[in-house]
Amino acid sequence: MADARKLTLSLIKADVGGWVGHSSSHPALLRRASEVLGNSNLIEDYYVTQAGDDVQLIMTHYNGTDAEGIHKLAWQALEEAASVAHELHLYGAGQDLLVDAFSGNVRGMGPGVAEMEFVERPSEPVLCFMADKTAPGAWNMPLFRMFADPMTTPGLVIDSKMHKGFIFTVHDALEGKTIDLTTPLETYDLLMFLGAPGRFVIDHIRPVWTDEWAAVASTTKLTMIAGRYVGKDDPVCIVRCQSGLPAVGEALEPFAFPHIVPGWMRGSHMGPLMPTSVAGGHPSRFDGPPRVICLGFQIANGKLGEPRDMFDDVAFDLARETASKVGEYLRRHGPFEPHRLPLDELEYTTMAGLQKELESRWKAEKVHKMDKSKARAEGAMELD
Ligand code: F6R
Ligand code: MG
Ligand code: MG
Repeated sequence: MADARKLTLSLIKADVGGWVGHSSSHPALLRRASEVLGNSNLIEDYYVTQAGDDVQLIMTHYNGTDAEGIHKLAWQALEEAASVAHELHLYGAGQDLLVDAFSGNVRGMGPGVAEMEFVERPSEPVLCFMADKTAPGAWNMPLFRMFADPMTTPGLVIDSKMHKGFIFTVHDALEGKTIDLTTPLETYDLLMFLGAPGRFVIDHIRPVWTDEWAAVASTTKLTMIAGRYVGKDDPVCIVRCQSGLPAVGEALEPFAFPHIVPGWMRGSHMGPLMPTSVAGGHPSRFDGPPRVICLGFQIANGKLGEPRDMFDDVAFDLARETASKVGEYLRRHGPFEPHRLPLDELEYTTMAGLQKELESRWKAEKVHKMDKSKARAEGAMELD
């Protein structure tokens, strides 16, 4: 019989130590985190995996979103994995656990969170997307394409429910506020914000025809919490699929185009987001290029069941090859923009400090080159 209770799907993740450097997670970390989750009777089911150097805890339960017990459990699992990372001298052990003690909710404490509640449908296909070496804005383009672009998702045209549209809740990371915009009517307003993914990121999406959410993403900006550079935020996102929501193939389709995202080496470079299998999700070349993996679950009676590795499909080989070619092209720019991020995005890195050291060496020019009108008036410059 169908369960009318709301099931919660929680995806909580953190980088608690890299193996080797920042390229991957040591299997011992995943084992320890699994043991902790396995000993809990708060959750219905769990699956622990990795996206590059991030440990990913995928859990189902009936405690609702932001439940203290679940967040505490996730924190414990990540803390214990971090202590294994310390024992093994893994790189950056405990990196994303920004505070010493848990205090009610992991949000704002370092880990990334994507959670949503829903009444389980007779068949409940969900996709968990997990990225490494990039930032939450990386989801803007693919989520827009899944839920609002009929060239990607024919369901928006053909399916009578999807045809009604979707409501996007967009988060302003700079000012800490959100706005709801409904597609297709407000598509252009939506794109005005989504096109600036460094500041505006999708928080969640719900269909116009029901209150239940269709997608949710992590929006944590570690830099804003820590006030200093602590790596990119390596975001996660959950998408429910089928029966009035994007088909599984429609939700995967945007990733056939490896769009350019910020992150990669030192979190300071633009590069293509490469879709890979879980086994292929270990960013090595120049600490990248940024990766996205996707596990699909067919939830049944609150249980996740066996995961399917969704990008383990030869049909994504071309996207991987394109990403390699685009990555190679960008790499040839070395430390020049637009491969390297613009200065304002590097403001929290150590580069800002290095620039400060040279501050006293700058000499003011007698006539500012850009101030041509003043120069002309003073006759101080030969003008052509
Ligand atoms: C990117 C990332 C890595 C490091 C790089 C330098 O998000 O984590 O590219 O930034 O390996 O690491 P440190 O400064 O720790 O030597
Ligand atoms: Mg790392
Ligand atoms: Mg990472």
